[in-house]
Amino acid sequence: MSGVNEIRSTFLDYFRKNGHEVVSSSPLVPRNDPTLMFTNAGMVQFKNVFTGLEKRPYSTAATAQKCVRAGGKHNDLDNVGYTARHHTFFEMLGNFSFGDYFKERAIELAWNLITKEFGLDAKRLLVTVYHTDDEAFGLWKKIAGLSDDRIIRIPTSDNFWAMGDTGPCGPCSEIFYDHGDHIWGGPPGSPEEDGDRFIEIWNLVFMQYEQVTKEERIDLPRPSIDTGMGLERVAAVLQGQHDNYDIDLFRALISASEEATGVKAEGEHRGSHRVIADHLRSSAFLIADGVLPSNEGRGYVLRRIMRRAMRHAQLLGARDPLLWKLLPALIQQMGRAYPELVRAESLISETLKLEENRFRKTLERGLSLLSDATNTLHKGDMLDGETAFKLYDTYGFPLDLTQDALRAREIGVDISGFTDAMERQKAEARSHWAGSGDKATETIWFELKEKHGATEFLGYDTETAEGVVQAIVRDGKAVDSASAGEQVQVVVNQTPFYGESGGQMGDTGVISTDNGKLDVSDTQKKGEGLFVHVTTVAEGTLKVGDAVALTVDHARRSRLRSNHSATHLLHEALREVLGTHVAQKGSLVAPERLRFDVSHPKPMSAEELQKVEDMANAIILQNAPVTTRLMSVDDAIAEGAMALFGEKYGDEVRVVAMGKAIEGPKAGKPYSVELCGGTHVNATGDIGLVRILGESAVGAGVRRVEAVTGEAARTYLAEQDERVKTLAGALKVQPAELVSRVEALIDERRKLEKELADARRRLAMGGGQGGSAGDFKEIGGIKFMGKALNGIDAKDLKGLADEGKASLGSGVVTLIGVSEDGKASAVVAVTPDLVDRFSAVDLVRIASVALGGKGGGGRPDMAQAGGPDGAKASEALDAVAAALGA
Ligand code: ALA
Repeated sequence: MSGVNEIRSTFLDYFRKNGHEVVSSSPLVPRNDPTLMFTNAGMVQFKNVFTGLEKRPYSTAATAQKCVRAGGKHNDLDNVGYTARHHTFFEMLGNFSFGDYFKERAIELAWNLITKEFGLDAKRLLVTVYHTDDEAFGLWKKIAGLSDDRIIRIPTSDNFWAMGDTGPCGPCSEIFYDHGDHIWGGPPGSPEEDGDRFIEIWNLVFMQYEQVTKEERIDLPRPSIDTGMGLERVAAVLQGQHDNYDIDLFRALISASEEATGVKAEGEHRGSHRVIADHLRSSAFLIADGVLPSNEGRGYVLRRIMRRAMRHAQLLGARDPLLWKLLPALIQQMGRAYPELVRAESLISETLKLEENRFRKTLERGLSLLSDATNTLHKGDMLDGETAFKLYDTYGFPLDLTQDALRAREIGVDISGFTDAMERQKAEARSHWAGSGDKATETIWFELKEKHGATEFLGYDTETAEGVVQAIVRDGKAVDSASAGEQVQVVVNQTPFYGESGGQMGDTGVISTDNGKLDVSDTQKKGEGLFVHVTTVAEGTLKVGDAVALTVDHARRSRLRSNHSATHLLHEALREVLGTHVAQKGSLVAPERLRFDVSHPKPMSAEELQKVEDMANAIILQNAPVTTRLMSVDDAIAEGAMALFGEKYGDEVRVVAMGKAIEGPKAGKPYSVELCGGTHVNATGDIGLVRILGESAVGAGVRRVEAVTGEAARTYLAEQDERVKTLAGALKVQPAELVSRVEALIDERRKLEKELADARRRLAMGGGQGGSAGDFKEIGGIKFMGKALNGIDAKDLKGLADEGKASLGSGVVTLIGVSEDGKASAVVAVTPDLVDRFSAVDLVRIASVALGGKGGGGRPDMAQAGGPDGAKASEALDAVAAALGA
């Protein structure tokens, strides 16, 4: 008897041996289909391969595909817990031919696998074919040797398979297993077919068509094959069970749930354990694939699944959150086949715990309201819509949870009353945001948000996705289409483009349709939940309702991821180096660099910056995975997460953790933990390197650090290195000797400058020390030394004037220095014995006037002035001399 894991690998190995490429399961959130809520069949990831739009390097493949059938065309949520074979999450085993083999080989492969590899008794098998498909009928006869009565023609849509309203489709042939006459039921097509005796185990779809629109169906380029076998069903058959919930995998999950609650899966509790086991699987896998509980779209389907399970946990008497406790059992069963469960374990666990804690707060009160509202109702009655809405709005009861809770008593819910109440509440909300001024210009976004709901953001997990255009806005008004050259804002139901927030710039990239292309230059968040693509139509046209492919500029986004993650590392390092007073005051995560403002009262020293950079790089070198969890704000802060400045947080926050602290009180714990909605690297090593460019002041007590990462950091360092090499070459030393060589040069230069200044001075003052005593003339009995000195600095003039005074003993010295650009500075010095007769200040003014200047200043014995006209130096000297003689 084979376990689920063994059956899965037997299937894949069999098809590998038969020339098929074994392809991994695609994520539960389809990226290649704008309308599909969740991947609901193995063929979804191959949709475009069937239609010829996408080429793969193989023409046959086999997969074990994760599927969710809840909320959407195939929705099994309401039945789980009440039947033997419904699941919200299941695995579909499938083999595919993309124009390679067709019916004959498909039937042959299927028959051999189940009768030879799996060893099923051929006598227990029967098949159906589409009523007009004589070919398939004949092939089953030929290959399997089935008698005519065991090849049943079915004329209904049961034997025509379609993925959704559009997409590849075709007639199909199903293989049924007879569980034995001890179970009630008849073969397919018989009046008793709804019984449980004959169970479909494998569906072979002969893909021939593509449903393009509701009305139009065209041929696929080449006939193809798509098959789907529910792993849980075939496991039941192979394990001699009739009920899927009795296979090894579910037994393990249910016994974990029995153990955690202390309640046996018997009688009225059996269904609750099944709901919990099933919903645990869908919740865990959805969270691992990036869906988080919310009030919109996929997130709301997840929330409905989780809350349904949580009500059943409550029915089992669980006093504390239960689901997260069962996660290890699930990982034990499925973690090897699906490593994403292991990778996302903490995110799944925290998200389950958070949701259950949150819901428990209102669950009991909601249930008691429900019981008050229904205690006079009887089988066949309806709960009024108002109460159902109140349960939804105030107590967080999704509508299907209320329905599920009343199902056993066969009481329904007035859905239209529920919808009316919801509409009334929306109208109320509208009256709040419709206003004037700024509010009015933003109104368009609120209107669109109300009409279409929030945009689903897929960009944590993918950079490409398909979506449907919900609105095109030009100059603040919604329009139906846009054509080449126009600048429009585009809203799509789901997008991988990150909308600017938390300092991280919005994504850029391309939106394309079958006949148009738009360049996205920015993405902004508007109207509390819309992601608005700022675009220019580059080619063709775009219409509301178009299916579009959205592609984020990968290189730019990678740099944004690196810079954002590096910001977190620098933040923590700054706190460690400078102190915990460091708080984030602002941040810009751009593709080419990051800028990070923090509160700190003084400039950071070079050593501090170096330490910060070293610490951040040490964590980068750890190459530790970056993990994300969803938590309540309070729990996150209690865990030491740092909140981002200026960011408005909802009740639930993403908590991004990276690295392992090496020392200090946090040693061994995550190095950086922050509340953050941004996009990050997968592991710190992806940052490559962080290099701080510098720090500066941006305001009182706020310092700005700027840094580069990855390729930008490498380029920066390479340029620096190039400079060092050029310098070393010029100085003819090894780079390592550069510093000492430059220091020596600076010393030498200082010495030379001094020598040069001395020499100039000597030269200027007439050779000997301080000039010579004969270097003057007498004017009216006063010794006057007057010199024009080229190339002498103004600052040296006073010293020279002092020397001149000393050499005269008694007299007046006037020195005029002329700089290289032709400007003049003048100094006049008067010996003490003469200050009564001549004021240096008066004399220097006379010189200054001659030099084209306006006076000067100083003391009676020493004054200084300047003038623009150095060419008039000798006139200035003459003017001073004349003043002495006057
Ligand atoms: N795509 C087919 C199914 O889901 C095989 O049944």
